[in-house]
Amino acid sequence: MFKRTHNCGQLRTSHVGTSVILSGWVNTYRDQGKGLTFVDLRDREGLTQIVFNTGDAPPEVIEKARSLRREDVIAVRGDVRARTGGVNPKLPTGEIEVLAKDLEVLNSTNTPPILPDEYEAAKIAEEVRLKYRYIDLRRPQMQRTLRMRHEVARITRDYFHSHGFLEVETPLLIKTTPEGARDFIVPSRIYPGKWYALPQSPQIFKQILMVGGCERYFQLCKCLRDEDPRADRQAEFTQIDLEMSFVQRDDVLDIMGEFIRTLLQKVKGIDIGPPPRIGYMDAMNKYGSDKPDLRYELEITDISDLAARTDFGVFKNAIAKDKGVVRALRIPGGAEKITRKQLDGQYTDIAKSFKAGGLPVVKYGQNGFETGISKFLAPIAQELISKLALTSGDLVLFAADSWQIACKVLGELRRQVARDLKLVRENEWKCFWVVDFPMFQRDAEQNRWVSEHHPFTAPRADQLHLLDSDPGSCVSSSYDFVINGYETASGSIRIHRPEIQQKVFQILGITPEQQKIKFGFLLEALSYGAPPHGGLAFGFDRLIMLLTGTDNIRDVIAFPKTQNGVDLMTDAPGPVDEEQLKELCVKVEAEQK
Ligand code: AMO
Repeated sequence: MFKRTHNCGQLRTSHVGTSVILSGWVNTYRDQGKGLTFVDLRDREGLTQIVFNTGDAPPEVIEKARSLRREDVIAVRGDVRARTGGVNPKLPTGEIEVLAKDLEVLNSTNTPPILPDEYEAAKIAEEVRLKYRYIDLRRPQMQRTLRMRHEVARITRDYFHSHGFLEVETPLLIKTTPEGARDFIVPSRIYPGKWYALPQSPQIFKQILMVGGCERYFQLCKCLRDEDPRADRQAEFTQIDLEMSFVQRDDVLDIMGEFIRTLLQKVKGIDIGPPPRIGYMDAMNKYGSDKPDLRYELEITDISDLAARTDFGVFKNAIAKDKGVVRALRIPGGAEKITRKQLDGQYTDIAKSFKAGGLPVVKYGQNGFETGISKFLAPIAQELISKLALTSGDLVLFAADSWQIACKVLGELRRQVARDLKLVRENEWKCFWVVDFPMFQRDAEQNRWVSEHHPFTAPRADQLHLLDSDPGSCVSSSYDFVINGYETASGSIRIHRPEIQQKVFQILGITPEQQKIKFGFLLEALSYGAPPHGGLAFGFDRLIMLLTGTDNIRDVIAFPKTQNGVDLMTDAPGPVDEEQLKELCVKVEAEQK
């Protein structure tokens, strides 16, 4: 078998006159007739044009070349020469070609169901590309993405190694680490009726590593959460997971912020500077989201005080509610640019999807407020115009509801308007921390408190007393890192004293008995000299999405699952043998699909 001397992206005019051996896949071939065949040979590094010409190679080689098909795997021996048919400026190897002397077909392909080229891929259903992932992976964009993942992993390991972090592996078969999703569970053969959980994250183990004196831990780890995949979410995904001892919040934010800054410098060549911080309440009030995209302006304004002075029932009812508010989103130039159809259709549907009654709107023109709820605004017109800094041609959308619903409605409308009016400055990077989240959210359906981050998050040091008196207003020490509207990292300072952990469990409705069963080992560990500690986890796949400019997480994972949680290539999940189930003492009652 020919042994290759160069790769397909390597040869330049300086190689002209040398004899080389290349191997790879037939990307394209053109049989020009008269014994002249061109092949673009592709490997991971690029494309090289190969010329098979009667007279320059033995007749059997020319004949073999004519029978080649796209995606055949071949090796070619030949001489490098300057291109005879004109330079191709689009290819790094575009100034040369290889005049073939010999050809070895390493493996001929069946007719491929898909071809690994970007133009073809864009036309093919994603399901087909995922089924034939081994061909799709040959696509240059996929190769660039795999390389990007590798690069980011390498920079990550270098950065944290140089800051004294140790990479420690944590187990996959564990008890449970609640991160708010459903666990995947694995039956134990040795202990029939008992189950392992797969980790939703290494959260408890990394905390125990701190109790174990590790001081600085990191890991590129797999997390498994039995939740429905979405565009930016997979059931099985990767985190850059970190934990540090003897730190306060700002120590974590400084070192992790510097990491992201270094990463973007190295990968994208841009300097975002030290990431700024925004308070959770500020983010929610101004942008209606705890992960706002700041690549466009659009801000929300509270007008509850003005709204109270109108005779508009919707405003008045909202304000009469406990924690009710009236908020406004000004859309510059929106009166013309946003159609009645959009307002009555998609925008009103967005409002209703968050259980708002409807979507009050008004236009502001040369003659003041027009259409919509203009007649109700007369008593407050001047003040509203100056509060929202309205100019002629603006459109205003209102939300009159509980604080939470008003935030959600206007936050989502803000995103939709930015998309519709193409306000997003695509080449900007808006990165910042969101800090001062509440400790708990009220789950109205179950009438109980749930953790905003997770149950191991400490209250901010000055908020401890509120755990007893007013948990709903207790601010936590957690933080999120947001890039261009994506939550890319999340973390907190942890509870390191058992009595506080017990109190938080209790607020979350976990009884002392349940605490003992589920978290006894953690409470015990905290009682044997746990240092103060904190950390966070970056979503590795989400980072790669941002760095490669895709909004589909499946584009950045070599072997992702579909929206329905299926691996189309291997056809997992699949049935198992009756024998296997018997051994595990597991009986399946549902019909296997
Ligand atoms: P959290 O659950 O917020 O925190 O996850 C941290 C980051 O991981 C990414 N992420 C996901 N990416 C893809 N698919 C998913 N299903 C998915 N879920 C989360 C996000 C998110 O910001 N143990 C804590 C971290 C800590 O407190 O240290 C945790 O896992 O980018």
